Amino acid sequence: MEPFRYHVYVCVQEKPDPAAPSCSNNGGKEVLDALREELGKAGLGDEVQVTTAGSLGLCTRGPNMVVYPEGTWYSGVQVSDVPEIVSEHFVKGRPLTRLANQDAAALKAEILENKRKILAAMKAAREAQSQK
Ligand code: FES
Repeated sequence: MEPFRYHVYVCVQEKPDPAAPSCSNNGGKEVLDALREELGKAGLGDEVQVTTAGSLGLCTRGPNMVVYPEGTWYSGVQVSDVPEIVSEHFVKGRPLTRLANQDAAALKAEILENKRKILAAMKAAREAQSQK
C-alpha cells in the first residue's frame, strides 16, 4: 500500500558539537522549509509526504534527503535546488541526476562505514566514561 505518490525523508539531524558535520549545520532545516513551500506552490502538498529524519549516514555531504518509492538519495541539497527537484522529480517524475547519488553499492558502503565509525566512537566514549 502506498498512500502517497512520493515520501521524502529530509535529514535535519543536529549534533551536540556545532562544528560537527550535520545536515542542520549545512542548512537542512531551510531545505525542509523550502521543500514544503515549493510542494505547496506546485499543488503537491497532499501527494508528496515530507517527513523529518535523523541522520541518514552521509553527514559530511548534507543536507541529505531520500525519496521513495524509488529510493533516490539526494546529497548536498541547497535551498536554491529545491524548485528544480520539485519540478523535475515530483512533477515530471524524473529524479534530478546532478544531485542524486548514482552508485547504490558505493552509497551503501559509505553509509555503513560511517555507521561503523560512529559505533566505534560511541563504544570508546562509553569505555572512557566507565573508567572515571
Ligand atoms: S546529519 Fe544528516 S546525514 Fe548525518
